[in-house]
Amino acid sequence: MSSPAMTALLELQGATKTFGGVSAVDQLTFSAPRGRVTGLMGPNGAGKTTVINLVSGLLHCDAGSIRLNGTEISQSKPHEIGALGLARTYQNVRLISGLTVLEQVIAGSFLKRETSFMASLLHTPAARRRMRAVSDKAMHLLERVGMAGSAHVLAETLSYGEQRRVEIARALGADPVLLLLDEPTAGMNTAESTEIGRLVHRLRDEGLTIVMVEHNMKLVVDFCDSVVVVNFGRLIAEGTPQECIKNSDVQDAYFGKRHHADGLRALG
Ligand SMILES: Nc1ncnc2c1ncn2[C@@H]1O[C@H](COP(=O)(O)OP(=O)(O)OP(=O)(O)O)[C@@H](O)[C@H]1O
Ligand SMILES: [Mg+2]
Repeated sequence: MSSPAMTALLELQGATKTFGGVSAVDQLTFSAPRGRVTGLMGPNGAGKTTVINLVSGLLHCDAGSIRLNGTEISQSKPHEIGALGLARTYQNVRLISGLTVLEQVIAGSFLKRETSFMASLLHTPAARRRMRAVSDKAMHLLERVGMAGSAHVLAETLSYGEQRRVEIARALGADPVLLLLDEPTAGMNTAESTEIGRLVHRLRDEGLTIVMVEHNMKLVVDFCDSVVVVNFGRLIAEGTPQECIKNSDVQDAYFGKRHHADGLRALG
């Protein structure tokens, strides 16, 4: 019998999503093991964000199944999936203009618990205590992502990489068991990307399961425990990072059929 720690937290079975005539996700089957970092790779337009949208309930499958911790979620709404322990970030930064870094994270917490927000408007001692606890928790989350020093500045004044960290803190405010990160290092330099990789490792070591869309193969090799590669919505490789980047179908998808050697050289 396999122990719970060895079982998959997220399982896709034949997941399919078509837009008009385009199969964005085509009979996709893969699983993300509990307590591990799974990299989701594939060239532009391969279907990675659609996978994240299907898992988080922004889109629904035309066919197939998605299970989170054993519960079928392929037709569930985002808030229902959130209540089961899923949180995500988006490919494009989605912070609320005019709020400080701390307020962004607090707002994320209240979005989850609307009733607390209503209570906070009443200014009762209990509501003030609750507000204090939420603020303390938000500050702790900012410490976890290395952004506590910027808690009181407007989020829009931060660098792109810092804004992405704030988004991760906001996602963590929901106390997820599964965190989906859609290109968390997009637009970052090498040092910033490496910092995100280290953060992802820390979160994993604290028990979180992470699925992250990542294009940078060095980061995938350094920070993902396993990798799933898609192209035209279909699975083309699955395994360890080293296995996947050397896979000839993956090389074809990323570098074209005639440039395998160049591609491997580019990886160092
Ligand atoms: N809402 C939509 N309506 C129509 N077509 C869509 C929609 N969303 C995605 N697609 C199409 O589905 C395919 C997969 O898109 P998706 O955004 O999932 O790819 P991706 O792997 O995330 O790409 P990128 O690396 O550029 O972010 C593409 O052909 C895209 O044009
Ligand atoms: Mg995408």
